[in-house]
Formats: sequence, structure tokens, C-alpha cells
Amino acid sequence: MLNIAVLVSGGGTNLQALLDCQARGEIRGVKIACVISCRPYSYALTRARGAGVPTETLVRKSFPDAAAYEDAMLAVLERYTVDLIVLAGFMTIIGEGIIRRYENKIINIHPSLIPSFCGAGFYGLHVHEAALERGVKVTGATVHFVNEVCDGGPIILQKPVLVEDGDTPETLQRRVMEQAEWEILPKAVSLFCEGRLIVDGHHVKIL
Ligand code: GRF
Repeated sequence: MLNIAVLVSGGGTNLQALLDCQARGEIRGVKIACVISCRPYSYALTRARGAGVPTETLVRKSFPDAAAYEDAMLAVLERYTVDLIVLAGFMTIIGEGIIRRYENKIINIHPSLIPSFCGAGFYGLHVHEAALERGVKVTGATVHFVNEVCDGGPIILQKPVLVEDGDTPETLQRRVMEQAEWEILPKAVSLFCEGRLIVDGHHVKIL
């Protein structure tokens, strides 16, 4: 049984997708062992509690520096003997110590087709605003392993979503979630837990 920590800060719809897949038995051999929020009042925490999953809150500004924050995070991850960290809208930078300790064991969902509209400053609605501003016809979502480069780790899965006339950042965000994120994040978690992801440099081979 692999233990997963899901790190959140917002609405928690991706967490919900994982919880639903787990409840339907679509992700086997896995337990969502804890949900960690970097905000004290995220709705994701309510979703976790509703599903009976233990929650932790780690707010960066409650710690004197990044090293102390990282130590606290590592302590929580060790307490739940976490095998895989899933970043699902977590808004605080993951320290390099954690990235090294969990090499190729941290995955992130990003709401665009990387390498478009990613990196520093591309989060939340900003991603979709930039896609609409640029006039792309296709956007989508990416699940990737996390390394020390922001949104730069090896890509696991991507799914395209068409931009429609009249889209606003909000409608596009919702459609990218519905048509891509909620599908490919659980799928990537499932592949990881089945031991079917082989990382070779920038490439992820799916067995
Ligand atoms: C998602 O759009 C995800 O791609 C991004 O943060 C958002 C989290 O949304 N990394 P939710 O909290 O899962 O609803």
C-alpha cells in the first residue's frame, strides 16, 4: 500500500477527483494518507475531512524561514510515511531538500500544455488569461514530476482542450479542469502506484 500526501491550497477539485477515483476503486494499492494545506481555510480541507482523510495546515509565514518550513513539511511527510506527494494547487514553493528526498516522487498538475504558459507567475487564472491573450486555439493540462525548475520536470501526461469563441479565463479554467485535469491527475497517480512510470532524463516512459 502506497501512502499519498495531497498538497492543496484552494477549492480542492483535483483532490476530489482523486478521492472519487479511490472510492470507485480506480486507483488500487493506494491510500490518501493526508492532505496538507498551505492556507488555513481552504475548501480542500473541508473535502478531505468529509472523506475522513487526516489534514495538516502548514502556513509559510508561521515559520521563521524556508528551512524551518521545509523541516516541518518533512516531519509531516515522515509521520504519514508518504511515498508520493501530489501537488494539486499548492501555492508555496517546495524546498530543494524535499525535492531531493522525494526525487521523482512528487507530481504536479499544471493547467496548460507545458512548455506553454508555465513557470514563474503562471498560476491560477493567470495561465488562462495568458492563453486567451495569445490567441491559442488549443490549451490543456499537464501532469509532470517536480524538479528544481518551476514547471520544468519530466512530463508524465498531457491532455489538450479546445479554446472556444467567447471563452473567458473563468470558463476556460473550468473546462480545462473538467476535460483534462480531473482525468489525467488520477491516471498519473494510478500509473505511478502501479510502478509503470520510468523516468529517463527528461522523458517518462509509460510501461
Ligand atoms: C488547478 O487548476 C491546478 O491545475 C493548479 O491549481 C488548480 C487547483 O485547483 N495547479 P483545485 O484546488 O484542485 O480545484
